[in-house]
Amino acid sequence: MNLTEQVVRSFQNIENERHRFLITTFIRKLHEYVNEVKPSEEEWIQAIRFLTDTGKLCDEQRQEYILLSDVLGVSMLVDQILHEKNEIQTPSTVFGPFFIENMPVRPYGGSIVRDGGDKIKPLLVRGRIMDTDGRAIAGARIDVWQTAENGMYSGQDTKQSHDNLRGTFLSREDGSYAFQTHLPVSYPIPDDGTVGQLLGYAKRSVWRPAHIHFKIEAEGFQTLVTHLFLEGDEYLANDAVFGVKERLIVRFSEQKADKNSREEYGLTQDYHLIEYDFVLTGVSP
Ligand code: BEZ
Ligand code: FE
Repeated sequence: MNLTEQVVRSFQNIENERHRFLITTFIRKLHEYVNEVKPSEEEWIQAIRFLTDTGKLCDEQRQEYILLSDVLGVSMLVDQILHEKNEIQTPSTVFGPFFIENMPVRPYGGSIVRDGGDKIKPLLVRGRIMDTDGRAIAGARIDVWQTAENGMYSGQDTKQSHDNLRGTFLSREDGSYAFQTHLPVSYPIPDDGTVGQLLGYAKRSVWRPAHIHFKIEAEGFQTLVTHLFLEGDEYLANDAVFGVKERLIVRFSEQKADKNSREEYGLTQDYHLIEYDFVLTGVSP
């Protein structure tokens, strides 16, 4: 019996069939890889060192392995396998490491800007949450988060208020949602660790195109984790984590403050507008 089969056999006593499949398939593919590349002793120890250093960077705040999965395209591959079920639903994309739970629930049309918002032109984001038949989903919980002008998220940047550029909104009876923020900016993913070294070595960009994150939950529907990207961003074609999907790229328009913007959203100055409807897929019974 060859070595690979011997190792596979040594795991045959795992009772859970799925777990047995996961580990034995991993061993077969890993052995296939090693057989193909035939590493030198030096290359083998370098790989061990890379994995060790990556693990040392992980704690409650930072997950360098998820970042590694992101830049290797594995996160988006898992996303593709799990979520691309129909053409109508809004596509999902990477979750990223910067979500914070339990942000304040803000009223319809409220602003997520906590720090220094008066200096930047407002952006109104609005639309509807719908099912795949176009029916309104009321009471959907919509979490949004984005970076500040300096390209950093609250939590990552200790100078920002904890809830700056984050918030939770609930869709209304007709499925509508709205919130105020400002245009997001493109920013580099954390590049001071092993993932940054790898990208540097490969002369790859560490930048992500500007986006706003969304997590949308509603009873009876699959949770949607996605972003909206801005049309025209210079990094759309080479996102460091491969998260861009065509249908998530949106155009923003310039709007003049008027009676309606004042009365409905308290917008007294000119603003940017993004209109986008999100479509959720029902959970199969
Ligand atoms: C983000 O968009 O927040 C993100 C996603 C993947 C890796 C790093 C950051
Ligand atoms: Fe992000």
